[in-house]
Amino acid sequence: MSAVIRTSVIQDSVIRDSVIRESLGASRSERATALDLLREYAADPTLADRLDLHDHDAVGTDAANTERQLVNLHPDGNADLWLISWPADSRTGWHDHGTAAGAFLVLEGTLTECSWDGAVHARTLRKGQGRSFGAGHIHDVVNTSGVRALSLHAYAPRLTTMTRYRLERGRRVTQAGRPAPASARSS
Ligand SMILES: [Fe+2]
Repeated sequence: MSAVIRTSVIQDSVIRDSVIRESLGASRSERATALDLLREYAADPTLADRLDLHDHDAVGTDAANTERQLVNLHPDGNADLWLISWPADSRTGWHDHGTAAGAFLVLEGTLTECSWDGAVHARTLRKGQGRSFGAGHIHDVVNTSGVRALSLHAYAPRLTTMTRYRLERGRRVTQAGRPAPASARSS
């Protein structure tokens, strides 16, 4: 199969750093618009086909879980737009997003997000539901649905580093930071 970029509404000319960055503004209400933007992008009927591309420059893997498939839809920008496929039981592990704010929208299946603010808060997110968050957000996202899930993620500024954590007896323990998938892709 050749690595042909299919025509879609998500063309490079449509994905704008400024639009993503504005949608991930400082306030909670501003960040809520990020989900609207992701829903707009998700209207592209060929979006999932991006995961079939054998373009190894655009497809990376998550160092924490090599089974997840990640496609950077905006590889040359100063904001990130990622399409992520989640096999059943795959998860991110606890992590932050460096200085980036972000949002993600469930396109297929169900994801459970556990966030941390001194206590764990779990949310089940089904198709059409999502979350937006500011810098400093710490979470662990897992596909507990038993079937593959698909999600679309935006981050601004671009993800460069992520710090990983583990929880021990109700306390957060910092692990080593690691490059975000976007950086790892080019290393
Ligand atoms: Fe995350």
